[in-house]
Amino acid sequence: MTICVTGGAGYIGAHIVRLLQQAGQAVTVIDDLSYGQASRIGSARLVQLDLADTAEIPRLQAALDGCVAVIHVAARKQVGESVERPAWYYQQNIGGMANLLLAMRAQSVERLVFSSSAATYGVPPAGRVAEDITMRPINPYGESKLAGEWLARDAARAWGLRAVNLRYFNVAGAGWEDIGDPAVLNLIPMVLEKLYENRRPAIFGDDYPTEDGTCVRDYIHVLDIATAHMAALDYLNRADRPFDVFNIGTGSGHSVRRVIEMIGQVSGLDVTPDIEPRRPGDPPLLVSDVSRIERVFGWKAGHDLESIVESSWRAWQAGPKRISV
Ligand code: UFG
Repeated sequence: MTICVTGGAGYIGAHIVRLLQQAGQAVTVIDDLSYGQASRIGSARLVQLDLADTAEIPRLQAALDGCVAVIHVAARKQVGESVERPAWYYQQNIGGMANLLLAMRAQSVERLVFSSSAATYGVPPAGRVAEDITMRPINPYGESKLAGEWLARDAARAWGLRAVNLRYFNVAGAGWEDIGDPAVLNLIPMVLEKLYENRRPAIFGDDYPTEDGTCVRDYIHVLDIATAHMAALDYLNRADRPFDVFNIGTGSGHSVRRVIEMIGQVSGLDVTPDIEPRRPGDPPLLVSDVSRIERVFGWKAGHDLESIVESSWRAWQAGPKRISV
């Protein structure tokens, strides 16, 4: 009764793995360790392989022996990089998903939770985004995630896979200090890195059509992301659920300026920002409609922005780039 977590040694995956382990669940992690670290997965079994490598399918299949479900987190996730290397993104994200589904079918593993993304929406119409709007991703990363959802849907039709696609909004925070986000690719770590370097945080554009002119996002605590996966597994245990897609967010938006102010409040540091030009491709507002996941899973995010920023700060301060206060 093992659960397989691909990408389990990465930031989000490690939180899911830890929660599963705390629930007494046996876990197999499949990770290429390109970003992940073996030290993050505790006693879980590690199988190191590149999912996108078709030559690895037999090893992948063997790794799935005894698994009842797969949580597929492993993927490339940098929007800018996906624009520069589109074919590689498709190969990695769609190829990896296809190989995984082939191996799952061969091993009769019939439950899948797939990490999708709000990037599949592109620049949605104003207001909270519900799952059933027309999907218009605007970069290869978002496109590869949407195609992943289609692969899961088609496998559900073809051979009885039961799949849940979870569209993550802006994941941040840390559930435990030792498994915070080690990458500096998103707003909170980017601000903390600037503060570490004794520089001012940057706001990429303050002339958007939002309340304070800066972009608004739905920040969701990584622990809430992890509990949503547990709820998704429960949901898939009910045999009548073949395929569905859910947003994971809080339903509340916060502006870039607000997030930076919160970092100042939590750290006690001067966070006066520099206003820089807009970053291409940023939608002004991206906030989830969470009514479907609340209704169907009975799941609700439990952490607010303060808790996200506080936990990010603590994990940052426990790491190698401690900021003197
Ligand atoms: N931003 C700044 N200054 C910074 C860093 C970011 O102003 O130093 C702004 C960005 O321009 C954007 C907002 O902060 O308006 C959030 O930016 P992030 O890079 O943290 O996140 P994104 O919303 O661009 O994207 C994230 C993930 C994607 C995912 C998406 C889904 O990185 O993979 O959320 O909502 F698809």
